[in-house]
Amino acid sequence: MVEKLDTAGWYRRFALVETRGYSPTYDRWCTGISEDPRLLALLEDLPAAKRQPNLLLGAARFHGAPATPYPQFRAFLLDHWSQLRETMLTRSTQTNEAGRCAVLLPALARIAAAEGRPLALLEVGASAGLCLYPDRYGFAYDGGPVLSARAVPDALVMDCATTGHPPLPASLPRVSFRAGIDLNPLQVGNDDDVAWLEALVWPEHTRRRDRLRAAIEEARREPPLLVRGDLTVDLQALIQRAPADAVVVVFHSAVLAYVEESGREAFRDTMLRLTADRSRPVHWLSNEGYGVLPGVEGALQKADGEVDRLFVLAHNGQAVARTGGHGQSLHWLG
Ligand SMILES: C[S@@+](CC[C@H](N)C(=O)[O-])C[C@H]1O[C@@H](n2cnc3c(N)ncnc32)[C@H](O)[C@@H]1O
Repeated sequence: MVEKLDTAGWYRRFALVETRGYSPTYDRWCTGISEDPRLLALLEDLPAAKRQPNLLLGAARFHGAPATPYPQFRAFLLDHWSQLRETMLTRSTQTNEAGRCAVLLPALARIAAAEGRPLALLEVGASAGLCLYPDRYGFAYDGGPVLSARAVPDALVMDCATTGHPPLPASLPRVSFRAGIDLNPLQVGNDDDVAWLEALVWPEHTRRRDRLRAAIEEARREPPLLVRGDLTVDLQALIQRAPADAVVVVFHSAVLAYVEESGREAFRDTMLRLTADRSRPVHWLSNEGYGVLPGVEGALQKADGEVDRLFVLAHNGQAVARTGGHGQSLHWLG
C-alpha cells in the first residue's frame, strides 16, 4: 500500500528515501521545502499530482537552477515561480534511463534463446524510447569485460553489480522490431524534449547524464516508433504491428506508479491473459517499484516501514529479480 502523505511529508519522505546518500543537492532542497510554509503553500496551489518532488526539481533544473544550498535555491524558486508553475503544469516526469537495459538484458536474452527467434520489443511508458535499444549498448557486469555487439563508446556501457547469479548472456539478443507507447512520447530529435530529459537527471549523476546524451545520439540514428497512447488501452493494436516471425516482449520500467490502482490491475490481467494465449505467445517483463504491481508473485515480504528502494523484475507475473532503480544493480532471486 502506498501511504498518503501531505505535501510536507511527501518532500520529507522523498529526501529521506530517494535522495539521501544519492543526491546531496536534492536532499538539501527537499528537506528545505518540507520545512518551508511559503513554498509548501505555492505547491499546494497546484493540482495534487503536480506537487511531485521530482517534477519541481526537474522544472527548476530545466529553468537553470544551479546546485546551490537551500537558501539560494529558495530564492530561485520564488523568482521564477510563474515559469516553474507553467512547466510543472505542462510537463510530467519522464526520466528515461537506458541503464535499465542492464537489468532487463538477462531475461531478454533468455527469452530469445528459449524461443529461438529475434525479439519484437514493445515498451509501454517508453518516454523517448531509450530502453528499446539493448542490442546497441554495451554491458559490464561486476566490472567484467564489456558485452556488446560492436565497439561502443564508454558512455554507452551500462555498469551493473550483480548478486544471486543472474543468467548473464554470452551475446546480445537480436531485435527485429522496436516500438513504444507513451501518454506523451518524447522525441530524441526535439531540443526541448532533450533539455527536459537532461533536467530530469539529478545534479550529481554525471555518468547518467553522459549516458543519456550518448543514448540519445544512438537513438537519433534510427529513432524508435513511438505511439501516443495509454498502456491500458492501446497495447493490443501495437502488438498487431510486430512481425509474425518475432517473439513479442512487452516490457515496462518505472511506469505503473503513475497509473491508478484499478488501471494497474486491469493491465496486469490483460498481460496475464496475453502471456497465456497460445495463438500468439507474448512475454511480459515488468520492472517496477516495490508494491507497485499488485499480485506479482515471489518472496517479497518486508517489515512494516522498511525503506525499500529496489524495484521488482517480474517475468510473466513471477518475480525473478530485485533491481536498482536506474539499472545499477541486479539481484537474481533464483
Ligand atoms: C519515469 S518514465 C520511465 C520511462 C522508461 N520506461 C524508462 O524506464 O526509462 C514513465 C513514463 O511512463 C509514461 N506513462 C505514464 N502513464 C502512462 C500510461 N497510462 N500510458 C502510457 N504511458 C504512460 C509517462 O508519460 C513517462 O514517459
